[in-house]
Amino acid sequence: MDEMLSGLKRTHMCGELSAQNVGQKVVVMGWVNARRNLGKLIFITLRDRTGIIQLLFDSEKCGDAFEKAETLRAEFVVAAIGTVVKRAPEAINPKMPTGEIEVAVEELRILSRAAVPPFNIEDELNVSEALKLKYRYLDLRRPTMQKNLMLRHRVTKWVRDFLDGHGFLEIETPMLTKSTPEGARDYLVPSRVHPGKFYALPQSPQIFKQILMLSGFDRYFQIVRCFRDEDLRADRQPEFTQIDMEMSFVDVDDVISLNEEMIAGLFKDILKIDLPVPFPRMTYKEAMERFGSDKPDTRFGLEIKDVSDLVRECDFKVFTGAIENGGSVRAINAKGCGKAFSRKEIDALGEFVKTFKAKGLAWINVTEDGLKSSIAKFFTEDQMNAILQRLDAEIGDLLLFVADKNDVVFQALGQLRLEIARKTHLLDDRKYNLLWVTEFPLLEFDEEEQRYVAKHHPFTSPMDEDIEYLESDPARVRAKAYDLVLNGVELGGGSIRIHSTELQERMFRAIGFTNEEAWQRFGFLLEAFRYGTPPHGGIAYGLDRLVMLMAGKDSIRDVIAFPKVQNASDLMTEAPSEVDIKQLKELHLKVEL
Ligand code: AMO
Ligand code: AMP
Repeated sequence: MDEMLSGLKRTHMCGELSAQNVGQKVVVMGWVNARRNLGKLIFITLRDRTGIIQLLFDSEKCGDAFEKAETLRAEFVVAAIGTVVKRAPEAINPKMPTGEIEVAVEELRILSRAAVPPFNIEDELNVSEALKLKYRYLDLRRPTMQKNLMLRHRVTKWVRDFLDGHGFLEIETPMLTKSTPEGARDYLVPSRVHPGKFYALPQSPQIFKQILMLSGFDRYFQIVRCFRDEDLRADRQPEFTQIDMEMSFVDVDDVISLNEEMIAGLFKDILKIDLPVPFPRMTYKEAMERFGSDKPDTRFGLEIKDVSDLVRECDFKVFTGAIENGGSVRAINAKGCGKAFSRKEIDALGEFVKTFKAKGLAWINVTEDGLKSSIAKFFTEDQMNAILQRLDAEIGDLLLFVADKNDVVFQALGQLRLEIARKTHLLDDRKYNLLWVTEFPLLEFDEEEQRYVAKHHPFTSPMDEDIEYLESDPARVRAKAYDLVLNGVELGGGSIRIHSTELQERMFRAIGFTNEEAWQRFGFLLEAFRYGTPPHGGIAYGLDRLVMLMAGKDSIRDVIAFPKVQNASDLMTEAPSEVDIKQLKELHLKVEL
């Protein structure tokens, strides 16, 4: 039978004990980590979320606790009463924070026995992700997972305190609501009371936070769950958490400077890392042209160079054709890779860019014996020299070219840049390179829908000087939008909003809504704007991504207690699952598979 606490109180957490406690009588409680039996002595390591302490059972001193200790196995839950003693010098374990001491046990209570776990509770664990997630409660016992969630708590609390200190009010917004257009598919919730009608779970609190501004709350924040039915990746979950904020009477610089203070303060206090403020800023256009991405990883070079002007007259039809079709030819110099990469590896890079819609990858290998290349024959000596010069080519370098429409060129070379950085170990995980990407295009053309769509969301304000082109040349209109990027990950994004009914109507027309459709979907917002709206703007961060990067992890699953896998299911609870016919009937739903 499991024993009871019966009034026994814990005096210390396991990891809190140190040489300062020597001589004290203590009560510790936790999980059995491991047991070592040395005949007359038994050593148990006991674990809780603060760390591990060694328990010593001496058969001559601890009476029936010794027999009990002999039955202990991993993950039993016990309470131990004993005295903190110094370990013999040869038994000191410098790898353990509590390695100088141990607790000489006088009494043991076995509070709960444990079945043999499907894997050991340890950081270096070689089992499948699926097994870990099925037994997430055991996975979460591992010291790294405990550390990650404790870090998440501290980050959340720090941010709350910071925003509170800067006049922000934390206000909750509904989960059962109307669709907010953030660009993903909605999760829908059927209404029982309104047959055939559905709530949408919020993709973000966007509209509500704007309404709070016109209701006069001035500064709002919320640490809030958002729901998006989209393809999952390492940094995307169907439900995730935002640090969401909105401010009244502000412009771009006000939002940016407050957020720099917040992020720099957070890194300083929690990680002891100094981030120089202000963070660098780069326009969207520059980010695309230099890095082929709107979330450039600036920890390394390998920048993209436009060589269109140098190859316009060459004999390579692929290059000239791309330019004639309004595209370009751009290249990166993979420094030293000509020497380092085999022909097979170069061909693999060609296959790699094809997964990003490039039709091929032309290359020039600059060797000691001259140029080796798939395309050298198409260029005059002058043309070739100009290319080598533009790309700062030296012996040992590998020059890689993509010719296509600009968006394909950027995407392919942007990804290739990262691939080469991964292959050549250029990604320094001790670096934290933050930057703001600004002046995003307001709209982008959606080929599938054959219309413009909002690049951020349709409430984002155009830049003042571009408003006049909203109807005549929508593609050239830039937005008062900004993203914060850390090491190639989009940490957060926001904008200054439209705050007039008239401009908001124009924006809806630009993305193909008739006035009637706009009023049907967002009438409450357009109506609200009519009653006195302060200029306002804000931003939202992916809290999961922020904590992931602060913890030095590659996946947000590592910082979410109960995450979902690729196909959006939860392996522990086995959600989603079927429901009773009765429940469906109440909701006026019929399932057709
Ligand atoms: P946005 O859509 O850019 O902006 O989202 C803000 C931030 O949320 C994080 N994020 C995600 N994290 C994990 N899983 C996901 N599926 C996911 N989707 C987004 C990203 C992103 O930068 N309402 C606007 C903000 C605003 O304009 O103020 C919004 O939601 O880190
Ligand atoms: P080809 O003459 O088709 O064999 O192509 C010669 C070289 O150009 C090969 O290395 C191809 O991978 C490359 N190539 C083909 N299409 C493109 C393109 N659109 N951009 C860059 N290189 C290309």
